[in-house]
This record gives sequence, C-alpha cells and structure tokens, in this order.
Amino acid sequence: MGRRWTWTRFIRGRFEHPCWSPPPRSRPLHPGWPLPRQQVAALPLRPPLSLWLRHPRRAALFVAVRPYTMLPYARLSHLYALADQCNRERIPGAFVQCGIYRGGSAAVLAATALNRPVQLFDSFQGCPSPGPDDVSMHGRHGEAGEAAASMADVQGLLRRLDMHRNPLVTIYPGWFHDTIPSAAKEMGPLALLHLDGDWFESTKVCMEHLYPLVVSGGIVYADDMGYWLGTKRAIAEYFVDRGMEMPAVQWVDHTGAWWRKGC
Ligand SMILES: C[S@@+](CC[C@H](N)C(=O)[O-])C[C@H]1O[C@@H](n2cnc3c(N)ncnc32)[C@H](O)[C@@H]1O
Repeated sequence: MGRRWTWTRFIRGRFEHPCWSPPPRSRPLHPGWPLPRQQVAALPLRPPLSLWLRHPRRAALFVAVRPYTMLPYARLSHLYALADQCNRERIPGAFVQCGIYRGGSAAVLAATALNRPVQLFDSFQGCPSPGPDDVSMHGRHGEAGEAAASMADVQGLLRRLDMHRNPLVTIYPGWFHDTIPSAAKEMGPLALLHLDGDWFESTKVCMEHLYPLVVSGGIVYADDMGYWLGTKRAIAEYFVDRGMEMPAVQWVDHTGAWWRKGC
C-alpha cells in the first residue's frame, strides 16, 4: 500500500531537491517535519522562569524584542547562543542578517556582537514577488509585500535598547540584488550569516555573494529552512551547482536550522 496522499507530501515531492533529505525524526531537537500547525502555535514564545533567574538581562532582551520579530523564543535564544558561540570560540568576522523585518532578531545579534560590525539588509517593502518555489510547508504560496516593516521600527527598537549610537551597526535599505553584491565587495570576513529572506531568489543572492565570505568554522543560520521551500532549495542548489557536499544541518525546531562552514 502506498503512503496516504496529502498536500504536504505532494508539494514536498514536487520541490524536494535531490540532495536534500528531511531531518531524521529521531533527533531530539527536531520535533518532526513538517510540524502540524497546532504544534507550531504551541512553541514557547517567552523566556522560561529559569532564564529570568540565571540571566535576567538576557531574558529582558528577549521580551523587549518580541514584538519586533517573527522568531519565537526557541529560535531567538538559539540565534543568541550561536552568536555567543562565535564570541567564545573567537571566530573572527562580522554578523550579517539578510531580512530584518522590524529588527527584533537583528537587535539580538547587535546585543551579542561585542566589537564586531553588524550589517543588516532589508527592502523595508516586504518580500518581492514570489517565484514558483516560494511555497510554505503547509502549501501556502508566498505573496509580494509579505513581512513589510519600516526602517523607523528598526531604528526605534535600537534606540530603545540604546544601541542606536553604535557605529558598527549598519542598515542597508533596498532589494538584496541591489545592495548585497556591492556591499559584499567591501565586506571583510563573516563569523555569522543569518539568512532570513524567505524566498528562493532572495536566499540565492545572499548565498552567492555572502557565503564565500563566511570564515571556516563560521556559522550560517537559516530561519526558514523548514518553512519556506524556496529557502531550502536555494541553499541546496548553491552546493549542488558547485559540486560541494550539502553540510549537515542542525535543526532548532521545525524550520530554523544552522550549520558550520567546513573547516
Ligand atoms: C521573515 S522576514 C525577516 C524576519 C526577521 N529576521 C525577524 O527577526 O523577524 C523577511 C524579510 O526579508 C525581507 N526580504 C525578503 N526578500 C528580500 C529581498 N530580495 N530584498 C530585500 N529584502 C527582502 C523582507 O522585507 C522581510 O522584512
């Protein structure tokens, strides 16, 4: 008997990249792929009491940025931990985020960057027109203008957190294909690259111009690796097209994933 037909299986089958296999279900950090809608909604959004007791400033940061980000607590705290890992391991280079929205996760990167440059890219007009691959794990097609936010929101949040005067934080407003190729030419090495542009074309331009700048041992975090098929496909294609092996990704939850660039 064949497996039951579902929309998710149908879409996954159509867009699955040959080099990609879904993460194994036995992994403790990964609750299954794709996660049903009700379970996604049940992911914790706020820091637990234990964090307030151990690291109150960190917990307060997560609460302050919460209205300014699409990342739930689990992914925000993982991003924080990855940035902190770069500091502890003294991985040289800047932190870069592609896709800022209202600036919540960008503020988390800025708060952990110490003396590193933090470079942030967004159109502030939302996502561009989607392509055929820009379908969610639930089968929803993306729309132009999704996740639109204003640069004033980001600047307001940075001001509220007293980070607005940090000369190392730079915002590049504009479409990725206009801003990233020229900015990449001026950029030094990257310790952490946060890919959060959702669509296939958006992720592709980031991978092409920024991935080569990530230092060996540096970290790449993709927030929509599980959720948007376009993100996953752009990343997988980058490696396939260059005859490189797809790195083994670590899953944070049903969608956030990260890997370390090969040493
Ligand atoms: C999912 S949101 C980012 C979420 C954000 N990191 C947070 O903390 O909530 C995706 C963002 O990517 C931006 N974006 C997507 N494609 C883009 C492109 N090609 N050029 C510029 N910005 C883009 C959108 O404007 C949107 O703000």
